This record gives sequence, structure tokens and C-alpha cells, in this order.
Amino acid sequence: MTSRTLKLLSPIKVGPLHLAHRVVHAPMTRLRSDADDSPSAMMVEYYRQRSSEGGLLITESAHPSYDSRGYIGAPGIYTDRHVEAWKKVTDAVHANGARIFMQIAHDGRQSHVDLSWGNAPIAPSVVPYETTVFTQNGWVPNSPHRALALDEIPALVESFRQAAVRAKEAGFDGVELHNANGYLADTFLQDGTNRRTDAYGGTLEKRARFPLELVDAFASVWGADRVGVRVSPSGRWGAISDSNPQATFGYFAERLNAYGLAYLHVIEPRVMGTETLVEGEAPVAATFLRNFFDGPIIAAGGFDRDGAEQILQRGDADLVAFGRLFSSNPDLPQRFRHDHPLAHYRREAFWGGDERWYTDFPAFAA
Ligand SMILES: Cc1cc2nc3c(=O)[nH]c(=O)nc-3n(C[C@H](O)[C@H](O)[C@H](O)COP(=O)(O)O)c2cc1C
Repeated sequence: MTSRTLKLLSPIKVGPLHLAHRVVHAPMTRLRSDADDSPSAMMVEYYRQRSSEGGLLITESAHPSYDSRGYIGAPGIYTDRHVEAWKKVTDAVHANGARIFMQIAHDGRQSHVDLSWGNAPIAPSVVPYETTVFTQNGWVPNSPHRALALDEIPALVESFRQAAVRAKEAGFDGVELHNANGYLADTFLQDGTNRRTDAYGGTLEKRARFPLELVDAFASVWGADRVGVRVSPSGRWGAISDSNPQATFGYFAERLNAYGLAYLHVIEPRVMGTETLVEGEAPVAATFLRNFFDGPIIAAGGFDRDGAEQILQRGDADLVAFGRLFSSNPDLPQRFRHDHPLAHYRREAFWGGDERWYTDFPAFAA
């Protein structure tokens, strides 16, 4: 297939934004923020390198409060200094003619007391599980979490609203709610982690309430057509589970449909968080959610150029986000256009480190 005929490289409108192609930079936490959680100069350069004329980038997850981080080195969006530092990112991206959404996340139970002044991580309910989190002392086992009290929830939603305000001040083109990969919003939605019996748990409607309150908060700041939502139906990262993911995510997508969102961003279950592709698995999640959501769908997880083109041609997604391949190919859309070879990513540099295998991957040179 010649690049001229690739749907992947054809224009599309997302909310009010006209994009020149459908190759999206997937959110990737790289743990290279400054000590005050501001995006570092290295990060400005990283996003600048990956911004192509008319393309869309989504940032690594940024946190609405000091104690919402699950990893030290992940950036914040809760102080005026963060706003100033993120402006350098958005300016660099806009100077190249690209667009950028900020992903906003509370990491919930995937955290540690050392990241929040000794306070236990929070979750909808206490459902013990084991993982490792990155703290001042390196990778350590996560801390036991506690269940949120009902009267704590409004302040939490307000922290997301304020983050959305700050993202706007920082010059982003929109915001994405991280409702995937077992972080806080996802743990409310899925019944393996939400055992509440109050207004935020039990029925599907009640489990969807917290994520939808966050969407409402974002939409109140940005208008819904500049808000995206990311989901990972059947994802297992963070030991998340649901007894009936089809019912849960079908219902959630249908509720989201009513907003007129910029997009729904769907991670295929064949990719387990940041792990490699489960061999032989086909993308199914975007196909399924297409039945419930009328707006643009971004598919993510294990795509290469041909796989992306196939899902777009089938009409099951409208854009495709690339994570690992974008990490090592700053000019990914151009490489797809010319069918140039791709550089392999370096997992050992994913989380933390310096410029090595972060900003030193060159653009393709013939
Ligand atoms: C280093 C790394 C960090 C990631 N951080 C995030 C994140 O902050 N937010 C998120 O929603 N997904 C995150 N992901 C998941 C990616 O966005 C993407 O869904 C996943 O890598 C699968 O896509 P790929 O096969 O194109 O890499 C991360 C993945 C990697 C490899």
C-alpha cells in the first residue's frame, strides 16, 4: 500500500481540531520531571521532537495533587509553577503545528505512603493486591490502601477541575481523563475493585458516577468537545478486573456518548499495561465500543503501521495511538509515510533516566 492511500495519514477532525493525520502519540509516563514535579527541559525536548505538523500528542499522565502520584518523577498540574513549565511544552508543540492534550490521572491505590506525606493510598474500597511503585527509594512494594470516605469525594473531583483549569492556562488543546489501567477512576468503574454500597458503588450507574463527575468537571472548564476519555476494557494492569467488562464498558461508553466528547481512547486488551503484545490476539475493544460510542475512537495497544491501517479501514477506529514505537521514533508519522524502517524502543530507559534513549533517538536519515 502506498502512503498516498493510507487512511492513517489522512486528515480528520477531532472536536474543533483539524488534524493532518491519525498517528497519535500515546500517553507514556517516563519519570523525568524536575524535583517539584514540573516537566523538565528534557521533557520539553521530548515532546517537541514528536510533534509533527497537524499531529496529536497526548502527554504522560499528570497529577492533580501532590498525593495523587504513584511514581516519583511523574509530572504534576497542581501549582502555578507547573503551569509555567508545561507552557514550554505546549509552545514547543504548537510551534511545530501540532496539538497536545494533557492526560490527567490520580493513581489511586497504585501508590505508596512515601509519596503522600505518610498517608495511605486511596481507592473506592479495600481490595488488597501487590505491585511495585517507584519512590525516592526506587521500586518498592506498594502500600496498603484505604477506602475513600463519601465526604472526601467532592474535594477530589474539585482537584481534577482545578487541574483542568491549569491545563487550559498552560496552553493545552484539551484534556484526557485517565480512566484506564487500574488507576483511581478505573477502580471506581470496575467491580473487582469497587465494593462500595453507597452512591458510588453497587449498580453500574453508581460505579460510573465518579468517572462521570470527573468528565463533568473537565467539560465545565473546556467544553466536552475538548475532553477525551481513556479506557482499558479487560486490561489487567494494576490487578483491575470486572465480572462483566462488556456490560460495564458498553454502559460507560453509552453514557460518554451523550457528551459529544473529543474522543474515546481505547486500549486493546491484547496489551497488558506496558507489556508486550499477547501473540495472536486481535484488537477487539474498539470494535466492541463502536456499538456504543458515535464520536471519534482512538485505538491503542500493539499497533504497527499495517495493523493501524487495517483497523481504520475496517472503520472500527478513527485514529491510532502509538506508545513504544513513538518512544524510539520521534518522526513516526513520516516513517509511516515513507515506509522507513523503525528504531526499536529501549525498555530499560522507559522509567526514569536521562536523555539516553529518551531524546537521543534521531529522525530517520536515508
Ligand atoms: C513507558 C510507558 C509508560 C506508559 N504510561 C502511560 C500513562 O502515563 N498513561 C496511560 O494511559 N498509558 C500509559 N502507557 C500505556 C501506553 O499508552 C500504551 O497504551 C501501551 O504502551 C500500548 O501501546 P503500544 O503497543 O503502542 O506501546 C505507558 C506505556 C509505556 C510503554
